[in-house]
Formats: sequence, structure tokens, C-alpha cells
Amino acid sequence: MTVHDDIERVLYAEDQIKTGIDRVAAEVSRAYAGRDFTVVSVLKGSCVFASDLIRRIPNRLELAFLAASSYGAGTESGELRIDFVPTGSEIEGRDLLLVDDILDTGRTLAKLKVELRARGARDVRTCVFLDKPSRRSVEMEADFKCFEVENLFVVGYGLDYAGRYRNLPYVGALRRELYTT
Ligand code: XMP
Repeated sequence: MTVHDDIERVLYAEDQIKTGIDRVAAEVSRAYAGRDFTVVSVLKGSCVFASDLIRRIPNRLELAFLAASSYGAGTESGELRIDFVPTGSEIEGRDLLLVDDILDTGRTLAKLKVELRARGARDVRTCVFLDKPSRRSVEMEADFKCFEVENLFVVGYGLDYAGRYRNLPYVGALRRELYTT
């Protein structure tokens, strides 16, 4: 048995992901042309996306990490906890591009934007790998996004269920019996 056996269907295959990231990387490169900025990758989910994204952006950029958790072991959005933030000098006066794996209810990125501005960031924009607009509960749109997904629990390419499946090279829907009781 491998992680592939738990996937009901593939939503975005590796080559589609590459094409989507090429497009977003070009958009980000244009938006920040001539301006240094910092990519802030929200751990753990966005580490795969962020590492592919930055290698396609030729601009001058720095990389920082932030850790936030809202899900625990389940699939329902819970209270957001910020576990780790970049140092003051990585934030103050900087233009930040906050990168996350998925925009769902919107609470995580909305809260992180406020937090980073409060810590002195000059500008905070957002870039997400996936967008699930049907689940939004706060006003929040990403400035850059790769793909939209329907209201399904998705895993792979950094996204997990109970800590697993981040290593899938594609995005897939988990077999329903694995997360419903
Ligand atoms: P909110 O609701 O704050 O959530 O926009 C963002 C965070 O929720 C997690 N999330 C998911 N993780 N499959 C996952 O593996 C999903 O379908 C999913 N929907 C939300 C994710 O950690 C994201 O950063």
C-alpha cells in the first residue's frame, strides 16, 4: 500500500500544476518588477508550492517562513494558532507576498495579513495554490492564485490529511471513507 491507493481521483496532475505555476510566477514577476520583496511561506502546507514558485521568479526576493495551524487532525476549520513568525527585520518595511496552499474560509490569510501589517510590513499581498471560493466565510480574495477547486477535501502537493499525503506530486480527492465516520 502507498499513499496513491487512498486517492479517489486526481484533480490536478503534475503537468497541469507546472503550467499553472508558470502562469502565476509570470504574474508575480511582473507585479514586483524592479522591487525587492519577501515570499513568506505559510508552513507546512505551502512549502511544496513555494519552493516550485520561487524557482520560476527571476526577481530579487528573499524567503521567510511562518507557521500557523487551524485544522488539527480533522477537515473542519478551527481556531487559528500562529506558532512561528519571521523576525522583525524580515517584516518591518518590507513588501511581503504571503504564500499559502489553499484559501478556504479565508480566516487564515485574513488574520495573517492583519498580523503582518501590525508588525510593520509595508505591503502584504497573497498568493495561493488553490482557492475554494464556495467555503469563504470572511471577505478575502488572493491577489494571485493557481487553481480553483470545488468543495472537496483535497490532498497532495503539500496539502495533508492528518499529516499525510503532502508528498503526493499531484492534487487529489481522498477516498471519502477515509475521512467520514
Ligand atoms: P482557511 O479556512 O483559514 O483555511 O482559509 C486555510 C487552511 O486550511 C487548510 N485546508 C485544507 N487542507 N485540504 C487540506 O489539506 C483541504 O481541502 C483544505 N481546506 C482547508 C489548509 O491548511 C489551509 O492552509
